[in-house]
Amino acid sequence: MKLFDVYPLFNINLIRGESCYVYDDKNVKYLDFYGGHAVISIGHAHQYYVKKITEQLHQLSFYSNSVQIEIQQQLANKLGQLSGYDDYNLFLCNSGAEAVENALKVASFYNNKKKVIAFKGAFHGRTSGAVAVTDNPKIKPPINDDSHVIFLDFNDEESLQNAFLQNEICAVIIEPIQGVNGIYEPNVDYLQLIQKLCNENNALFIADEIQCGYGRSGKFFAHQFANVQPDVITMAKGMGNGFPIAGILIHPKIAAKYGMLGTTFGGAPLACAAGLAVLEVIENENLIENTIKVGNYLIEQCKQLSNVIEVRGKGLMIGIEFDFPIKELRDKLVYEHHIFVGNSNQPNTLRLLPSLTITKTEVDILIDAISKILTK
Ligand SMILES: Cc1ncc(COP(=O)(O)O)c(C=O)c1O
Repeated sequence: MKLFDVYPLFNINLIRGESCYVYDDKNVKYLDFYGGHAVISIGHAHQYYVKKITEQLHQLSFYSNSVQIEIQQQLANKLGQLSGYDDYNLFLCNSGAEAVENALKVASFYNNKKKVIAFKGAFHGRTSGAVAVTDNPKIKPPINDDSHVIFLDFNDEESLQNAFLQNEICAVIIEPIQGVNGIYEPNVDYLQLIQKLCNENNALFIADEIQCGYGRSGKFFAHQFANVQPDVITMAKGMGNGFPIAGILIHPKIAAKYGMLGTTFGGAPLACAAGLAVLEVIENENLIENTIKVGNYLIEQCKQLSNVIEVRGKGLMIGIEFDFPIKELRDKLVYEHHIFVGNSNQPNTLRLLPSLTITKTEVDILIDAISKILTK
């Protein structure tokens, strides 16, 4: 049997990882500045994480949401403490798209409306509701109807106000830092206007923190730079450091009802052990402080590179826009310098999403490699 060929793959077979590095089947060492799409938050094969998952595996890896699963509450407590959202409720699921799907459902159940405002360039996932609010016709088959979605430009306050005036809006969904589109941030004022209009119009404000959340921006959630409090916050990627776990935080004004949401695998003990270990490592190793420190250094260093038009982003979620398409640069980084970096929807923008444990030493290795390629 062959694999369904939907991914353009590097010809590299990775078999092991440690901290910010991964190793292939020939034992070639690669510096990982991409974290497998922003997933690796605390580093590959972190010892504490491996220990906690292993311990749980020996105890009980799975039971469904029909019994008390104490570790779910432990995870919720730690998440509430670190994120500052102690008074919100947590619903656990398995992937980013599923988190978005559930966020949209919560909004529509809450206010019984169905028009959603989303943004040009947005990526929210590939399941039915998530892909409908994603701005990419190429990944949207006819069955994923998006006639209920209004796509607006970032930071255009007038079009946002008009959309609310002309429609019964159910929810606004926004990435506080757009990832797949090439690292773009809405203005603080704009996020605050979204919050205000949602409150005035009984619509829900959904912050998609799947890529920019969990410390990556230098705050636990990127929207916290704007002093807003979304009604629903989606999380995935960095939440499990590679173990599939995702979730949504739900404002206490939204009442839960039995059967409103549900999942077989979501919140399983093994996933929660991974999720809890990640939060404990983020806390114990001061990874958000490290993200700010190393992220600022990374941004400064990137700005010194030649041919750079703009460096965008915050913390360890960085886009470097060059004055040329980056495909060849990316290939050279991986095949000649053994460094993984990401691309984006913008052909000239390189995306950096390393583990939050990365240090200045690794930044210097990356910058040196890019400089060498550019001066050749
Ligand atoms: C902001 C955002 N939302 C949702 C998703 C979808 O997550 P998943 O691939 O886990 O379904 C992604 C994935 O890249 C994302 O970046």
